[in-house]
Amino acid sequence: MNLSAIDAEGKKHQVVGLTGQTLLKALCNAGLIDPESHRLEQIDACSAECEVHVAQEWLERLSSPSYDESYVLKRNSRNRELNKHARLGCQVVLEQDLEGMVAGALAKSCKSKTSSRTL
Ligand code: FES
Repeated sequence: MNLSAIDAEGKKHQVVGLTGQTLLKALCNAGLIDPESHRLEQIDACSAECEVHVAQEWLERLSSPSYDESYVLKRNSRNRELNKHARLGCQVVLEQDLEGMVAGALAKSCKSKTSSRTL
């Protein structure tokens, strides 16, 4: 499926994801999130570095965040307040009806470090 991601500099990228794959893996494969800093994919062992922001129209198509996901996002937010558009990329599983979704990737691009790596 085709997705779009906006990187930390505001540049739009086309991202190809697979049904059943996490948004994090799709963003890592596109070089937009460094897989080395997110390889655990266990939210209790991480610090929300895979946080993405999703527009309302797409948020409504995602399953609701778990208590743990909301807790990690809130714990790592600047004001300890949950941004209603924030999700953890490792917790968003791509489904067919997310074709065309746009996500803002907050992490710095890692293309120079991981261009040939796949997860
Ligand atoms: S991979 Fe660490 S919080 Fe998602």
